[in-house]
Amino acid sequence: MKGIILAGGLGTRLYPLTKATNKHLLPVGREPMLYHSIKQLINAGMRDILTITSTDHMGDVVQCLGSGKEFGCRLSYKVQEEAGGIAHALALAEDFSGSDRICVLLGDNIFEYSIAPYVQDFLNQKDGARVLIKEVGDPERYGVAAMDEHHILDIEEKPANPKSSFAVVGLYLYGPDVFEIIRNTEISDRGELEITAVNNVYIGNNQLQYSICKGRWTDAGTIESLFEASKILLENDNRILPH
Ligand code: DAU
Repeated sequence: MKGIILAGGLGTRLYPLTKATNKHLLPVGREPMLYHSIKQLINAGMRDILTITSTDHMGDVVQCLGSGKEFGCRLSYKVQEEAGGIAHALALAEDFSGSDRICVLLGDNIFEYSIAPYVQDFLNQKDGARVLIKEVGDPERYGVAAMDEHHILDIEEKPANPKSSFAVVGLYLYGPDVFEIIRNTEISDRGELEITAVNNVYIGNNQLQYSICKGRWTDAGTIESLFEASKILLENDNRILPH
C-alpha cells in the first residue's frame, strides 16, 4: 500500500499567514504540519509516500521533508500546477500508485489517534473504497454523509442544510480503480474536481465502506482550526496516540 499527501491548494482562508509560505509548512504544535501526515502514514505501515503540492511552494516542501531518510520512508513529489480540486491533485498520483492500493491524506487534517486501524479495515475489505467519518458541531464546513444504520447513502459537499452531523474526514482509501472514476468526474460549479463526487460514484456502485474516527480530529485550514490542531498535538507532544 502507498501513501499520498495532498498539500496543494491556495490556503486563502489563512491569509496573510500563507502569503509567503504553504499552509502545510505552518507550525502545528512543535512541528511543520506535513510531519503529522508523514508520521501517520508511516505509523500505518506505509514506506512509499508521494507529496503533491503547488509549483510556488514545491522548493520549500522538499527543503522541509527531504528524501524521507529522516522519517524512515521514501518520499516522492509531484507538482499540481493549478488548484483544480482534491480529485484533480489525486489524479497526478496515478503512475506512482501503479496497481497498489492507496491511502490519501489531506495535508491539513490532524488526528489525535493513529489512522492504522482504518487502513487495516480497508485492507480487510475485498474491493471498493473506504472513508472516515466524524460527528462535528459545524457539518456545513465539510463533506457531509447522509446515513442509514449501516451505509452512507450520499455525501454532500458543504451543504447549507446538512442531512447529518457526520463530516467526511480527509482520509480516503482507494484501489487503482479510483483513477478511472476521476477521469469520468465532471468539474463542479465552484470549478473543482471534487473528491465528494468521486466518493458518490463508489456509493452508487455499493462500494463505499466507512470507519468512525476515534478521538479528536480537525482540519487546520482556518485560523481557529489551526489553533485547535496545535492544541491537540501540543498536548501529546506531537505524538500520535495508539488505539
Ligand atoms: O477536511 C475535510 C474536508 O476537506 C472534507 O470534509 C471535504 O469533503 C473536502 O472537500 C475538503 O474540504 P476543504 O474545504 O477543507 O478543502 P480544501 O480546499 O481546504 O483542501 C483541503 C486540502 O486538500 C488542502 O489542505 C490541500 C489539498 N488540496 C486542495 C485543493 C483544492 C490540494 O492538494 N489541491 C487542491 O487543488
